[in-house]
Formats: sequence, structure tokens, C-alpha cells
Amino acid sequence: MKTMKSLRFILFILCMAVLSTAHAEDKIMFLSGNHVLYRLDTKLNRYLLLPIEERAELSNMKVLADNNQVKTINVRLASEHVDYYVPLDVSKFAGHELMLDIHINGNIRNEGAIKEWACWKQIKYSDTFDMTNHEKFRSEYHHTPGYGWMNDPNGMFYKDGTWHLYFQHNPYGSLWENMTWGHSTSKDLIHWNYEGDAIEPDALGTIFSGSTVVDKNNTAGFGKGAIVAMYTSAGESQTQSLAFSTDNGKTFIKYAANPIITSNVPDFRDPHMFWNEDIKKWNLILAAGQEMDIYTSDNLKDWKFESSFGHGYGNHSGVWECPDLMKLKVRGTNKEKWMLICNINPGGPFGGSATQYFVGNFDGHKFTCESAPDVTKWMDYGKDHYAAVTFDNAPDGRHVALAWMNNWQYAAQTPTMQYRSGNSIPRDLDLFEYEGQTYCGVIPSKELFDQRGKKQSKLSNACELVLNLKGSSSVTLSNDNGEKVVFNYDEGKQTFSMDRTKSGKVDFSEAFPVTTTAPVYGKLKQLRIFIDNSSIEVLDAEGKMAMTNLVFPITPYNKIVKKGKVKYIIYKM
Ligand code: FRU
Repeated sequence: MKTMKSLRFILFILCMAVLSTAHAEDKIMFLSGNHVLYRLDTKLNRYLLLPIEERAELSNMKVLADNNQVKTINVRLASEHVDYYVPLDVSKFAGHELMLDIHINGNIRNEGAIKEWACWKQIKYSDTFDMTNHEKFRSEYHHTPGYGWMNDPNGMFYKDGTWHLYFQHNPYGSLWENMTWGHSTSKDLIHWNYEGDAIEPDALGTIFSGSTVVDKNNTAGFGKGAIVAMYTSAGESQTQSLAFSTDNGKTFIKYAANPIITSNVPDFRDPHMFWNEDIKKWNLILAAGQEMDIYTSDNLKDWKFESSFGHGYGNHSGVWECPDLMKLKVRGTNKEKWMLICNINPGGPFGGSATQYFVGNFDGHKFTCESAPDVTKWMDYGKDHYAAVTFDNAPDGRHVALAWMNNWQYAAQTPTMQYRSGNSIPRDLDLFEYEGQTYCGVIPSKELFDQRGKKQSKLSNACELVLNLKGSSSVTLSNDNGEKVVFNYDEGKQTFSMDRTKSGKVDFSEAFPVTTTAPVYGKLKQLRIFIDNSSIEVLDAEGKMAMTNLVFPITPYNKIVKKGKVKYIIYKM
């Protein structure tokens, strides 16, 4: 008994050593109604755990080491209560005098009120940061960030059996800020490991979206097989910068002569590079206002402007962002055509963000769209498919895309806190022809078959529902709380729709409760419906329709009611 007690005491002391609140040596200096200097004692621990309150005013926090600014972040320090913690890694500044120089934005009316803010007593020191999930809406088989805000997928590449995904990450909160490239890896496109942050903001700006290539022939001189990244430095202006990695994408070194491409167009961003075997050069496509600019290069550093595409073509009711350009096979023919991806926000078919594309020809210098200028083609007819781009160097000539599964209309309001947003399932892209037009085929990647578990008779929180349809039909998924989603296939009109107006939590944004409708180009025979804790992706098994929608049911849907000639099989995922 006695030994148990002393063991417990030792454990307690050990815990206190790894996780402790503000040290005695911390010195807080309140200098005005919105300015605080906070001197740190960093002798013991790796992380400073910052207490965050999501709806608090934003503070700018500069980390000073021996009087020099070594980092600056924007963070919502808790004023009344702590929603969650974020880790500030101070280990790299060990051995220096450290101080936080904090300016709180907004109108802090009561003189001295910041002294009462919750954060000062709640700052903690710790050697670890706990990322154990405590969100019921977190996906089981989709990529989500361990913690913090996420938007666009960035710089995706495949090398030596590993898929690399970078993403727009806020490491200091679950709302958009401090854009940094987070990094996750996977062997199968389904199970992802968070590898930490790969590219952090610098004096040129925060790190907006971009791409990577595997430089197999060392054209840039950073090393054979180096991973070369180009991203937008979002500072006073948007410019394009390079970074390279010689350890397979784990760490990056920024190119010293950044930025490498500049412009006076304000929305000038999201560079996507690829090797073009037809002209034996690198190509680059990037968003420039309402157009996509195309460049060529031999060495990834010096880029020559070739042409712009987009004036008068497709949808222009929002900002053109996150482009991609690739050569694809046209199914069932021996033709190949080029497809230009143009994500646009707002202006999507159901409001907010969406992915449009153009099919045509590209000679390495100029893209020519084969459809009439007023034709708009959408890659996905849900509300939550954005910033879709493909992996570089995917095996077997595949073009595998991932999207950000969210919509700028309400991404900051979705009901999670530990993290915000996930990615879509992986999809292989190709082209198909229907009534004189060529469309993008979106096929669930084959890796999803390996993830299929046993057949089950009931729906569950993470499953694949396969529907075999003969003619017009409707299927309703519901739970014990009466929350439901309704799918409707109209064979005559050749449309498929999903109604999520009563799907669960919908009131966090007026833009959320909607019905989305897609054209299906012929007859639907089999649908593969991927259900995860907070998303439903409906894909035609033949790849002629895709619809991605978030849902937030209080409990998982567990009932199916069908009308018409429908048979179904459910697989565990
Ligand atoms: C698209 C986007 C990009 C930009 C990034 C910033 O969602 O606006 O154009 O690079 O997000 O996070």
C-alpha cells in the first residue's frame, strides 16, 4: 500500500515535470491596454502550450530571442475561457533569453482588462503535445490535420512508395491564419501520418498554395531526385518562391534568391509545375486575376511567360485559384487531350467554392479550349469540393486528385474545434465523351477497394454504400433523431441530387442546408457512396458523376429507405 502511494507520488512529480502551468520565472509586463511583454523560462520544456479561445480577438505575437525577432504569429489568446491549446515549439531557441511581444487587436475598452485575461494563468509548458482525437466528426478514412485549421492540398507528390500531401495549415488555431505547409504521408492514400510542418512563413510572407515536382535529372541543380516546391509568398504582394528538399520532402531549404516570379496583378498565386515530355521542358500554370498564366523553364528557377488562358471562358463569378494542367486519355478511344483545372471561389453551382475545368489542346506554350466560351464544366456537383489538384510523379501515369472537402462560405463555422476540414477520398481522373463533348471522369481510386472491409447489413459511421439502380429511384438515409439525407435519381431528366437540408447540424451557416443536383450523362447503373463521420461522397462507379457534401448528423445514419428498383450492398470502411 505504502509503495503504491509513493509510486503515485513519483508519477505525480513526473507529470508535473512534463506539463506545468506558467513558471515562477515567467514575468508578465502589462504595458498598455493591448500590449504585453511575457518573458519566458524555457529551461525545461519543448513546447509552450498557448491557450486559445476561438472567438477572442486576434493577437500578434512576436517571439524575441536575445532581443531579435525570430518568429511572428497571429493567435487568438483566450480572454475568458480556453477552447483548446496549440503548441509553440520553443526548443530551437533554447539557450536564449526568450520573450513574447504580444499586441492584442481590437478595441480593449476597459483599462487594465487584459490583466484579467484567462490566457496568462493558463499558458503551459510541456514536452509533448497531445493530438489524441476528441472530435466525433473527425473522418476515419479521410485525411484530416492532427490539429488546427486546414485548407487546400498543396505540393502533392509520389516517390518510392510514399504519397506526400502538404496542406495549407494554421499550426496556431483552427481558423485560417499563419499559412504554413503542413505535411502528411501515406502508403495507400487512405491512412495518413502527420509529419509536422514543412515550410514556414518568412519575411516574404506566409506560405500559400503551390506544387512540388521530383527533379529526377537535377535540372535545378539542387540534387538528383530533389523535391522542388514552388509556392506563393503572401506578403505585401503575392509572389512565387522556390524551396527544395533533399530528404524526400521531410524538410525544405528555401531558395536564397526568392521570389522568382513577380507581377503587379493582386491575385497572383498557386503555381502548379509539371514536366512536359512533349516539349522536354517544365511547364508552370498559375492563377493571375481572372486568367491562368502559362510559363516554361529548363531549370525550375528561370521561367519564361508564354501565354494566358481564360478571358471570356467558363465561369468568372469568383477568383480563379489553384490551377492544374494535364494530358489525359479519352476513355474507349486512342485519343489524348489536355485538361485545365480552375478552382473558383465564389461562383460554384450551389454557391461558394467549386472546381471547373476546360478540355482542349496544349502545345507546351498555349492552351486552347475546345468548347464554346460559354460552356462551364464542373468536376464535382457537391458543395464541398475545392482546390482540387493532382499528385506529381504518380505511378503508372495515373492522375490522382485530392480536394479540400469544404467551402469558403462556411469553412470557419463547421462544428469542430480541435481541427477544421478534411480532404476528399482520392480520385483518378480521365476523360470521357458524351454527345459531342468531352468531360472529366472522376473514378474512386483503386486503393479504396483495399480499404473495403466486410459486408454489413446496416449503415455505420464509416462505410461504403454501393447502390445498383434500374431507372428513377430515391434512397433516404436517416438516424434515430430523424436527421436524414435524400438521394434522388431522375432517369428522364438525367439528374442525380442529394438533399442535406435536414442532415443534422445545419444551422451554423445559411449557406449549408441545400440540395445539390448533378447531370449524369446517360444512365446511372451503380453508385459508390462513401460515408464517413461528417461527409458523403457519391461517385458513379464508371466515373461520370461526382458529388461531395459534408454532413454533421448527431448520430450516424443507421437506416435506409428506398423507392424504385434499387439494390444495395454495404461494406465496412
Ligand atoms: C484557395 C486559396 C488559394 C490560396 C490559399 C490561401 O482556397 O485562397 O488561392 O493560395 O487558399 O490559404
